[in-house]
Amino acid sequence: MPPDALPDQPKQQLPREAYVSDSWYEAEQKTLFSKCWSFAGVTMDFTEPGDFRTIQAGAYALIVIRDANGDLRAFHNQCRHRGTELLEGCGNAGKTIVCPYHNWVYNLDGALRGVPAQRECFPDLDKKATALFGASVGVFRNLVFVHPEPDQSFDAWLGDLAQIPWPHDLASSELQENPDDVVYEINCNWKVFFENAIDGYHLAYLHKDTLGGPTHDKNLWEVFGHNMVWWSTEREGVKHRIPQFVESSAKGSGLKTVRNAETPGYGGVYMLFPTTILTPNPWGFSISTMEPVDANTTLLRVRNWSPKGWFTYTHRAADIPGYDPESGRIKSSHWTQHPLETGDFQTEDVWVCEKMQRALQSPRYQVGPLAKGAGGEAAIDFFQQTVLEFMPK
Ligand code: FES
Ligand SMILES: [Fe+2]
Repeated sequence: MPPDALPDQPKQQLPREAYVSDSWYEAEQKTLFSKCWSFAGVTMDFTEPGDFRTIQAGAYALIVIRDANGDLRAFHNQCRHRGTELLEGCGNAGKTIVCPYHNWVYNLDGALRGVPAQRECFPDLDKKATALFGASVGVFRNLVFVHPEPDQSFDAWLGDLAQIPWPHDLASSELQENPDDVVYEINCNWKVFFENAIDGYHLAYLHKDTLGGPTHDKNLWEVFGHNMVWWSTEREGVKHRIPQFVESSAKGSGLKTVRNAETPGYGGVYMLFPTTILTPNPWGFSISTMEPVDANTTLLRVRNWSPKGWFTYTHRAADIPGYDPESGRIKSSHWTQHPLETGDFQTEDVWVCEKMQRALQSPRYQVGPLAKGAGGEAAIDFFQQTVLEFMPK
């Protein structure tokens, strides 16, 4: 297990290779992701039997689907005949899952139901023993998670995290999901992006013209098992720095005040190891998931919810700096102005993550001391220890 608190004297735990080498990447894909939970969607994505979403959890291609009894199920997205991928994207599969290759048919609970020309072609087939490979599914406050192994306990993984205040009720009629899923294609290792998201030391400096803080002494990271939650203990600062957000949030937005923060909705980031970032804020709620593509590339998928009829900060994909109309993704290659002039803190983060990744290519790359304290860079040390715990020895 990782330590249950942040280290006093944080230091870099991972070698440079962890961020740049193909062998590290492949080991993570197989080993780390086979032991962890990944975000699969929200319960509103699965209202009817047959509603499904496909999820890439490291090297594992998974399906979450609602079965005919109304239960959520998770399977590996491969046919038990010759392994063809069964479903793509998301949608409704109908009453059964039919493999497009030779039409083997599965019930929504994964049982193999029909095999064309079974008597002639597969006289000895034991259909009962040929169900889809099972995975695990867990639900917490309308958030759906999936694990590549069967019979895993999502509650055990959440632990005390389930007990802490939670800012938004996603099923609330006061909130609505914004129309666009936003996908960033970022030229950095997924851990570089994760570490930037938990780096409390940079908020007042890299983001001095956007977020402008809080400073490290107003940040608080707390550890919950393998997960971490950040709160700002700042009371007033945000009101002066980003008044337009606060003004909007004050007007019956339905957002709740989270622990340690006075501004409604402000000041919580829930980092669910390894790839899920839940961010409540005064203008809504976002769920970001990282999908490693290779050692040097990560997709960041962002879904946003806002109070109904209220769109001060909607994250329409086409409005974000770097929008590429051809792919529909946000890419640094499509920036038309300097990232620090965009006024968008996410763009600032992408910019610095890509700078980190370029620096990591040098064999001379070395990390110096990390900032002490729960609001500094101690969370980075904790995260890296957690990564090591899940990697082959
Ligand atoms: S691979 Fe699916 S039916 Fe053959
Ligand atoms: Fe940042």
